[in-house]
Amino acid sequence: MSVRAFRGAILSVPHDPAHARQTVRHEPDGLLLVEDGIIVARGPYADLAERHPGVAVEALPGLIVPGFIDAHVHYPQMDRIAAHGEQLLDWLDRHIFPAETAFADRAHADRAAALFLGELLRNGTTSALVFPTVHDHSVDALFEAALARDMRIASGKVLMDLGPQGLCDTVKTAREASEALIRKWRGRGRLSYAVTPRFALTSSDAQLQVAGNLIAAHPDVLMHTHLAENERECAAVAARFTDAIDYLDVYDRFGLVGPRSVFAHGIHLSDRACARMAESGSGIAVCPTSNLFLGSGFFDFTRAAAHGVKLGLGTDIGAGTSFSMLHTAGVAYQAALMRGYRLDPFRALYLATAGSAALLHIGDRVGALEVGQEADFVLLDPAATPLLARRTAGATLAETLFALQILGDDRAVARTYIMGQCAWNRDAA
Ligand code: GUN
Ligand code: ZN
Repeated sequence: MSVRAFRGAILSVPHDPAHARQTVRHEPDGLLLVEDGIIVARGPYADLAERHPGVAVEALPGLIVPGFIDAHVHYPQMDRIAAHGEQLLDWLDRHIFPAETAFADRAHADRAAALFLGELLRNGTTSALVFPTVHDHSVDALFEAALARDMRIASGKVLMDLGPQGLCDTVKTAREASEALIRKWRGRGRLSYAVTPRFALTSSDAQLQVAGNLIAAHPDVLMHTHLAENERECAAVAARFTDAIDYLDVYDRFGLVGPRSVFAHGIHLSDRACARMAESGSGIAVCPTSNLFLGSGFFDFTRAAAHGVKLGLGTDIGAGTSFSMLHTAGVAYQAALMRGYRLDPFRALYLATAGSAALLHIGDRVGALEVGQEADFVLLDPAATPLLARRTAGATLAETLFALQILGDDRAVARTYIMGQCAWNRDAA
């Protein structure tokens, strides 16, 4: 049995501060005891150390937080970050679909998956819900790479029978390939499967029904798609699905709205749609850097909170502009303020950790550094840059956390631990 102990300031936010009280757990001088990758004790160092004599203690100077959980990201789009000039639909046609077509080559997918997971780790992200491409082997490439790194990753073949030439499946191949991939990957490592229709516009009605049937047949899988991101997209959805009450209702009619559904964006949602999301237990991956980059709009945190909609945070690489969940949290603050909502830094940390974990249905395993959870955590360095050091000197915990979100990025991630093992060490790189 491997036992490890880590001493440092420990911070986590297990519950949503928007809906619960006393949600911040903070030990200024804490101890995290890890046995075979699982947290077996957490508390003040002074209390715990004497109960566990003989265990070598590693000092981690900085701030220990749960590993970040990116609730929406596209690994094949890494190579098209910073593609200039377009909103969503033109950006997809001009930049993204050509990039994804290159994943017909398995070796290309393998190289991208390795680089992608490395980029997650150097940014302190230990889990993610990931869009691959329409190609079955794009899932294999990602899952094999994640398995080798023991990372908690959810993904599933993209369904898109109305996609551009060269990037299309069919109703039949969507069903058969998804079934085969679910069978192949179920129960392996820390992986989970997500049925992944790209969005309403790239699937026929028959294929959306296949997605609904897959969800119904496999209650352990997630459903992952895009929702109400861009005005032209919403108009095209309304024009095609004339019977639907709204965009969410399109998905609802095919059985795609439930407690295991994760919708990226949700910028243009009615009160009815928010109420239905809350009632169904589905959640939104808020992706602020993407929403700014593509000119999509600003997420309405006030409306979502009023309805009690479950939220997590996503980078949405490559419409998103940074792998850093710290930076993404900082931009979420600014985007929220554009609609009059003051996003608290502790709530932002919640969204980037336990909130996203709840969306991915892995909240019992990771996201809060609770006893019994897996020891995926990050050591943040509040003095990572001269400016951060100056700004956080003598600062309160809330000020330090907010400064890390506004000024921080991968430079502020000193170490990333997966199951208690160091998987990224900035200072040894
Ligand atoms: N909607 C459909 N596909 C995509 C995509 O790849 N990125 C984003 N941001 N929105 C989408
Ligand atoms: Zn996306």
